[in-house]
Amino acid sequence: MSYKIISKKELCTNQYELVIDAPHVVRNAKAGQFVILRAEENGERIPLTIADVNKEKGELTIVFMAVGYTTKILATLEKGDELVDLAGPLGKPTLIKKYGTVVCLAGGYGAAPCYLISKAFKEAGNNVYMIMGARNKDLIFWQDKMKSACDKLFITTDDGSLGEKGFVTQVLEKIMNNEKIDYAIAVGPMPMMRAVANMTKDKDIYTEASMNPIMVDGTGMCGACRLTVGGETKFACVDGPDFDAHQIDFD
Ligand code: FES
Repeated sequence: MSYKIISKKELCTNQYELVIDAPHVVRNAKAGQFVILRAEENGERIPLTIADVNKEKGELTIVFMAVGYTTKILATLEKGDELVDLAGPLGKPTLIKKYGTVVCLAGGYGAAPCYLISKAFKEAGNNVYMIMGARNKDLIFWQDKMKSACDKLFITTDDGSLGEKGFVTQVLEKIMNNEKIDYAIAVGPMPMMRAVANMTKDKDIYTEASMNPIMVDGTGMCGACRLTVGGETKFACVDGPDFDAHQIDFD
């Protein structure tokens, strides 16, 4: 099977979007799931969340930051090149229901999966707020797309170069003080997800965190992605990646 690259875009500093021909993956793909791919023969397998799908065309979109060995190789691929292999969709989809008011918190390049998650919650009839945060304006991508997937988009940057200066948690605090939130989901760096979990726990808001530990096989065999949730060992690749954030042992 070939996994041809249909298009490649540099979204912002060092972050890329690849659209890949992968009809068998997108056919059953749902918000919150991921794929595992190899960019070169004998290369490592890396997990990347499903950022968007076009089911009619059979196209899968992934977004990544070129920071590690494999993502740097991925960033050199161009339209027409092919990936060595691509497995998915993997993991459990985000549980989409009508909760009422939903807040999606997206941090850094972890923002990519929030597009499909937020869109699915909106389609399920929720009032959806998305809070997207990054270090600076050069790291914010898909603004229009994110806006279309929610009822209100908030942007924060650490240096104030775009949106509100500060962190996503400050906006969350304001929303929590003004209205009732029924469900929250955090996707991003571990300290951000932990901070969100601590805040929503006090207010008794059910919260999920999308965990992204190191993965090897992605099928529950190797144990590389284990974490502790509610005192039990879980594997992020098959039991997650979403877990009840108030039960996760972030330490
Ligand atoms: Fe191997 Fe999850 S990646 S068990």
